[in-house]
Amino acid sequence: MKSILAVVLTLLISHHAMADGQAEYKYRQGVMRTVGGQMSSLAAILRGQVHFANLKFHARGMADLAEIVPHVFPEGSGVKKSEALPDIWEQPDEFKKTMEKFVTAAKGIATAAESGDMSAIGPAMKSLGQACKGCHDNFREDADR
Ligand code: HEC
Repeated sequence: MKSILAVVLTLLISHHAMADGQAEYKYRQGVMRTVGGQMSSLAAILRGQVHFANLKFHARGMADLAEIVPHVFPEGSGVKKSEALPDIWEQPDEFKKTMEKFVTAAKGIATAAESGDMSAIGPAMKSLGQACKGCHDNFREDADR
């Protein structure tokens, strides 16, 4: 029993240590696409084009993503194809501040949508958009997109 446990622990630990930059990059891409999808959905609803009652679900989805996004930028994941700039790891304090703005804004849109107070949703959406842009401008290649 003891030896099996030892093997399992070793596997778990070595798995952890063997950070795979390529896998992390792919994962980040998928997560960011989800973030982009939620953002487009929120925008479509706020333009009045689609099912309004879904607003709070997309907003909650964005708040959930705010729990995920801080963990998709591990060191070593700035692989060749990635648009993540080295500043992410070279200026960790700046990056952390930028990340915190996003987390706050994502939670803010969820709170606003939950409250149903339309006057709060506009500003919350604006802050969220600025949080995306704030990070893309400084930490993502080709920020023109
Ligand atoms: C803290 C930084 C940060 C925040 C905040 C952020 N992004 Fe990103 N985003 C990035 C970086 C860096 C990349 C490039 C990732 C890579 O190529 O490895 C990226 C890539 C993307 C992509 C392209 C995914 C793909 O197909 O490769 C989309 C879409 C995207 N972000 C949308 C958003 C939206 C919408 C928001 C706001 C709601 C947002 N991002 C907030 C840093 C951020």
